[in-house]
Amino acid sequence: MASTHGAEVLVASNRGPVSYEVREDGSLNARRGGGGLVSGLSAIGPEAGAVWVCAALSDADREAARRFEGGRRLPSEATGGQRVRMLDIDPDVFSDAYNGIANSVLWFVHHMLYQTPLEPVFDAEFRRRWASYEAYNRAFAQALAEEAAEGAAVIVQDYHLTLVPGMLRDFRPDVRIGHFSHTPWAPVDYFRMLPDDIAEQVLRGMLGADRLGFLTRRWADAFAGCCDALVGGLGGTRTGVHGLGADAEFLRERSHRADVFERMAALREEIGAAPDGGARKTIVRVDRTELSKNIVRGLLAYRQLLEERPQWRERVVHLAFAYPSRQDLAVYREYTAEVRRVAEEINERYGTAGWRPVVLHVRDDFARSLAAYRIADVALVNPIRDGMNLVAKEVPVVSDSGCALVLSREAGAYAELGDDAVVVNPYDVVGTAEALHEALGMGGAERVERTKRLAAAATALPPAQWFLEQLEELRA
Ligand code: G6P
Repeated sequence: MASTHGAEVLVASNRGPVSYEVREDGSLNARRGGGGLVSGLSAIGPEAGAVWVCAALSDADREAARRFEGGRRLPSEATGGQRVRMLDIDPDVFSDAYNGIANSVLWFVHHMLYQTPLEPVFDAEFRRRWASYEAYNRAFAQALAEEAAEGAAVIVQDYHLTLVPGMLRDFRPDVRIGHFSHTPWAPVDYFRMLPDDIAEQVLRGMLGADRLGFLTRRWADAFAGCCDALVGGLGGTRTGVHGLGADAEFLRERSHRADVFERMAALREEIGAAPDGGARKTIVRVDRTELSKNIVRGLLAYRQLLEERPQWRERVVHLAFAYPSRQDLAVYREYTAEVRRVAEEINERYGTAGWRPVVLHVRDDFARSLAAYRIADVALVNPIRDGMNLVAKEVPVVSDSGCALVLSREAGAYAELGDDAVVVNPYDVVGTAEALHEALGMGGAERVERTKRLAAAATALPPAQWFLEQLEELRA
């Protein structure tokens, strides 16, 4: 099935580097995405002719995929020169696979988000959705099989595509297959909550790869633990750890553009000054409104701080940027509403004429996030569980005068940043409030020193090297 002009390097992920919207006049407007994979892949340059296979995520994407020969010929200016193949998957199949399985089951398992005894229920409806997940994975495997040159290297991304390595192996025994997980991996006692045949299918699908990459040793070990217990070990599949770092060059340049300075001024206006004219301290958090990010407990910890440490009243503002995510799922919509409710409640309870304790923004604005990173005194990163968490890595790189980091020990980033952060148990609201108090009181010199060390650790493996390292290991 290898095509004669096949690509030597391929990447597959659910979300691709470009998305579309339909303009009023019916034409299509392309929006380029960001993130580690986009900059990582650009490291090998367009001349390498790499192909990125992704799914059409919306009606506009599907329209684009159809207009441009099954997504094979998306205009390259729209994709930043990247060759993209956008798969036009049946919307119902896509929704079952993406919403129904990837984000409602596999994401929940790996982040240990189920609220037993009510969840999960693996019933006939789950089985129906699972069939869609298989079909969706097969569509990716087929496209990769068509696009890959003889002996090509393919790197498949994340929990959406766990079955692709095994399927692609069947179609194309000649290609080298890697898979990289951007999430945690569940410990076996939690993972085996999945029906036995499904758990086995996921592991065997992944083990179709030559090499599996994880963000930290902890997740790689958890995967190996599942394989030992459920399928008799890793077989011939190698595993490796690649801790994706922040892109210092990009962040430093981007955070000094005019739009960021404008937003710094606007934020300073919103933060205001204490009644005695003194500067207010700022605690920042930036997340998708994502259940695993633990935004509500973060707000409760802040409320606890104001309650137990009244000296901070009027003297601190919590900038909470919680950008809507996965709003097709009711549980995400409810969570977003809860975040708003708790923020409002804190403002009603403690706010004064000249002081809004929580400034909550829900509209995605990267320039505003960078502005907040630059001016914040404390960054709060308290996920229940997180594959890595790049906010924890971006803040120290961008901070103007040092920012204390309050970091969950359950974030992958903890393995690299734990020594210079104030570390919290994400479930412990009182403990998190005390950590915020400690971070707010940290002396300037110590904060600067710690921030320097955090920035060095955070940028140890920039996206370009992260990607090349995996490619080399896969070809070795
Ligand atoms: C996590 C996943 C990514 C995903 C991202 C945004 O970081 O590891 O694969 O793209 O969340 O989620 P979304 O569902 O919007 O793609």
